[in-house]
Amino acid sequence: MNRPSSPTRVVVTGGAGYIGSHVVLALGEAGYDVLTYDNLSTGNRDAILSGELVVGDLADRKLLARTLTEFKPVAVLHFAASIEVGESVADPLKYYRNNSVNALNLLEALQSVGIGQLIFSSTAAVYGNPTQLPVTESAPLQPINPYGASKMMTERFLADLAQANADFRYIALRYFNVAGADPETRLGQDYANPTHLITRALKTALGIFPELQVFGTDYPTRDGTCVRDYIHVADLAQAHLDALNHLTAGHPSSVFNCGYGHGFSVSDVVAIAKKVTGIDFPVVKTARREGDPAELIAGCDKIREQLRWQPRFDDLEIILRTAWEWEKKLVQRDA
Ligand code: UFG
Repeated sequence: MNRPSSPTRVVVTGGAGYIGSHVVLALGEAGYDVLTYDNLSTGNRDAILSGELVVGDLADRKLLARTLTEFKPVAVLHFAASIEVGESVADPLKYYRNNSVNALNLLEALQSVGIGQLIFSSTAAVYGNPTQLPVTESAPLQPINPYGASKMMTERFLADLAQANADFRYIALRYFNVAGADPETRLGQDYANPTHLITRALKTALGIFPELQVFGTDYPTRDGTCVRDYIHVADLAQAHLDALNHLTAGHPSSVFNCGYGHGFSVSDVVAIAKKVTGIDFPVVKTARREGDPAELIAGCDKIREQLRWQPRFDDLEIILRTAWEWEKKLVQRDA
């Protein structure tokens, strides 16, 4: 059924995933009419708390074009992707297909249907090992792993398309380390085999993993472990709403870092995880993980100034507390 177009209708690819689901919820609460397009390869149907779901793959060009034609969104938010740095080193072609080729499919579908506004989930991994910290949006893009390279390529597709076609505009959001869970514990990270530090630490505290491995203690950082800028997923969701407002208000295409501008080491995270959980879980030092940059900290003036983004959870302890509440809820659910 074709519907009349509406300024509040948006399509979210990957809306059943960790970050996508928090954004779908925030969009719904802000009054948007959301359609999630997700193949459920890593996402969960139950995580979609607003709007409708079409189970589909971005490789399925027919279903994608039909969905966009029928729903007539004013904009698309594109989250669907593979997201693990370590896996991307072991299986690079998976990343180029899922992240770059599928993004190309989406862009071609947008062109054929005449949708000219896109919010893209990019990553701090496009910077590689930045020479200046905090790293700003104008820094050179020199990814050191296929994950970052696959996202950098999509950014290039977007820039070239916007250059060629005045009716197409986009915002790319370069996420730093997204963590935490919905402060009301309705959503959180829910993958079968999570690899991210904070989730691994909390699941180790719960006894789900026997120990937490610290990947590398000889980095050129203050305590030898990698430093990251951890951003609460609810603040990141707000950044998407701000970006969508900006784009639909007619502003030109742009790129924004999403982080708080300060870094914590792996050892810092472990210490706060032990404090928040009250559990002295086992931690072992192991070799470096391939593809990991030593330190990533966001220059975040641009997003604060141009999108007027105002984060509410800029506190690593709050990030861990919300994630901990969610992990305990998962244990009850799966009992
Ligand atoms: N780490 C451990 N032990 C673990 C898991 C992680 O020591 O069990 C370390 C990693 O080596 C790294 C740090 O914790 O130094 C953070 O690792 P994550 O896997 O949590 O996150 P990444 O920094 O690898 O990647 C994340 C996102 C990417 C994004 C990047 C940007 O997954 O999409 O942040 O900073 F590009």
